[in-house]
Amino acid sequence: MRSPKDFFRPLAVGAPEPVRQIPFRPSRMIHFFDPGNEKMAAKVPDMVGRADVLLGNLEDAVAADRKEAARAGLVRIVRDTDFADTQLWTRVNSLDSPWVLDDLLTLVSEIGDRLDVIMIPKVEGPEDIHYVDRLLAQLEARAKLERPLLVHAILETASGVARVEEIALASPRMQGISLGPADLAANRRMKTTRVGGGHPGYLVRTDPVSGDLNEGRTTYQQDLWHYTVARMVDACVAAGILPYYGPFGDIRDTVACEDQFRNAYLLGCVGAWSLHPAQIAIARKVFSPDPAEVAWARRVIAAMGDGTGAVMLDGKMQDDATVKQCQVVAELADELAKRDPDLASAYDRATKEALA
Ligand code: GLV
Ligand code: MG
Repeated sequence: MRSPKDFFRPLAVGAPEPVRQIPFRPSRMIHFFDPGNEKMAAKVPDMVGRADVLLGNLEDAVAADRKEAARAGLVRIVRDTDFADTQLWTRVNSLDSPWVLDDLLTLVSEIGDRLDVIMIPKVEGPEDIHYVDRLLAQLEARAKLERPLLVHAILETASGVARVEEIALASPRMQGISLGPADLAANRRMKTTRVGGGHPGYLVRTDPVSGDLNEGRTTYQQDLWHYTVARMVDACVAAGILPYYGPFGDIRDTVACEDQFRNAYLLGCVGAWSLHPAQIAIARKVFSPDPAEVAWARRVIAAMGDGTGAVMLDGKMQDDATVKQCQVVAELADELAKRDPDLASAYDRATKEALA
């Protein structure tokens, strides 16, 4: 076993010091673009400020004969664009692919000082993160980078899910984990062909009424991803990193997308991927606490004074635990308000009304 003392030592001479905390930066939507697609590339400057994170995708959805164009396109876009306080991430190809080595070599040396997070797909276990960890340290040293690149794993193999805790703890670079429901479904041999979301066949049914097996029995569709998202959230929070829902493929079904995002939000995720500009607004709505909820949280915090003991508010019992629940919502609202002036005023308005 590696000594805990070594955990925060750079893995290559000259590489920057590993981070000790993953900074919380709003990342409600990770908006994917294909840097090799000229039309999409031209829109990137307009997207700055509209999404919390812009991600140049080099992996799936980029055809094999477009991989090099996508990589070169990303370098070009990053050199030509001021991302201001919008985070810049990339998704490189999988570790067993013929492209990933050049992805990492090129991106770290050419734009390593501009990238915030590198997403690694199809992670099977901590050994994948260890490989990337050392390679990044070597490349950072060579490129004389001053801050370490962070790593985000996609949970899209059965082996990855079975070892999600080890993955989350594999390196101080680990920033977060996203659910990858399409690859995960394939890898697990689940029988859904959808990208995320529910399935009408995955349901529970009420008991028969008067012996009739067919009539009068209500069915409720269940969430196929509940177990995995919940497990991922626990693994991430225990490791001090951030959990995300991944993609929702039915772009037209904005209603079911919102439901799936909200399930993830309520379970503890901080964001989701957006594959189309329409999903940016959905993620902004879902992953920003509702102003009424923020106002309530601030009211409970104010009523609870030093945070101990019990009080009744509108007939609801509040105590040391509920004040902590409220702090989660209020602190998230404060962080988001710093980036989103409209939200900041909606939160203040609702709070003033609630405390009046
Ligand atoms: C995302 O990459 C997925 O496979 O769902
Ligand atoms: Mg995938």
